[in-house]
Amino acid sequence: VSNMLVDSFGRKHTYLRISLTERCNLRCQYCMPAEGAELTASPQLLSQNEIVRLANLFVSSGVNKIRLTGGEPTVRKDIDDICLQLSKLKGLKTLAMTTNGITLAKKLPRLKECGLSLLNISLDTLVPAKFEFMTRRRGHDRVLNSIDAAIELGYSPVKVNCVVMRGFNYDEICDFVELTREKPINVRFIEFMPFDGNVWNSKKLVPYSEMMDILVRSGKELQRIQDHPTETAKNFRIDGHQGTVSFITSMTEHFCAGCNRLRLLADGNFKVCLFGPSEVSLRDPMRHGADDSELEEIIGAAVKRKKAAHAGMFDLAKTPNRPMIHIGG
Ligand code: GTP
Ligand code: 5AD
Ligand code: SF4
Repeated sequence: VSNMLVDSFGRKHTYLRISLTERCNLRCQYCMPAEGAELTASPQLLSQNEIVRLANLFVSSGVNKIRLTGGEPTVRKDIDDICLQLSKLKGLKTLAMTTNGITLAKKLPRLKECGLSLLNISLDTLVPAKFEFMTRRRGHDRVLNSIDAAIELGYSPVKVNCVVMRGFNYDEICDFVELTREKPINVRFIEFMPFDGNVWNSKKLVPYSEMMDILVRSGKELQRIQDHPTETAKNFRIDGHQGTVSFITSMTEHFCAGCNRLRLLADGNFKVCLFGPSEVSLRDPMRHGADDSELEEIIGAAVKRKKAAHAGMFDLAKTPNRPMIHIGG
């Protein structure tokens, strides 16, 4: 294992997020504009072989966890094969996916056979009408079914991602916590982050401290569980609950010091931080015949340019980036 994935602050990058597509079967307001985001022409998107070749390169350089994202990863027709190929990579311990759960229940048994080992499912409201408002589509019941299907198939923990927005689901925080009483899920409340074309403003952001106040006032006693230094989430348990509750505090208490994440986008761009415009194409050199060592050099140089932390809560919204639908979280 080379040190190509160690940055200038000594952070080792062992976690690669691969966005498989820019398409999605929902249109969430916090992710993209109503008209959708621009799509890269399909010849410009990475093929399955290209994805596997690059993933192999990252895994031989120390990556042990890959998370598939999108857009919505399950809209890609070759998703089963991609999982199968990636799960065979020697040295990979975890093959995870973040999905909106719309078509997951049906596809999950096969995905599990193909080596998918961890699942995060997005669900921002327990009210069907609010789901339609936020996602501009139907399918609330299908997401709930997918969460149950994942539990039944033995996925553990099933993480449920809930982006908290003032004026939308602010009043559902306690209901989501109640859900963990009987369901063995990890509900994760996420601070709303700005991306190009989403509806972010600072008033809609509900800070971690305020979510905590709401829960304490309602009598919920949360006990902190020690989390891993590279984790995005602050984790808690509650006596008598089967599931757990977490907070992803990207805006008010960032966790960049422990960052171990890199991103490969659907168009073959390599992105070393969720925020900021800095990207480099791996697709172009690969298509011009670059060998593995040339690709490793490009990757290593980009990793060395990674900043210590994102621009900070007040500057993030002004820093150019891409729409979330292209980055995949
Ligand atoms: P695990 O692999 O289970 O730890 O999940 P995850 O939190 O890395 O991934 P997921 O796709 O479920 O994302 C949950 C939230 O965390 C989303 O809002 C992501 O945008 C955010 N997130 C994921 N990785 C990073 C990161 O490196 N930095 C920041 N600031 N946020 C991140
Ligand atoms: N802020 C915070 N989280 C977001 N996600 C999508 N857009 C945003 C945003 N603006 C979440 C999704 C998904 C994960 C990949 O990122 O809910 O669970
Ligand atoms: Fe890592 Fe950038 Fe996320 Fe900070 S904002 S944790 S540096 S990806």
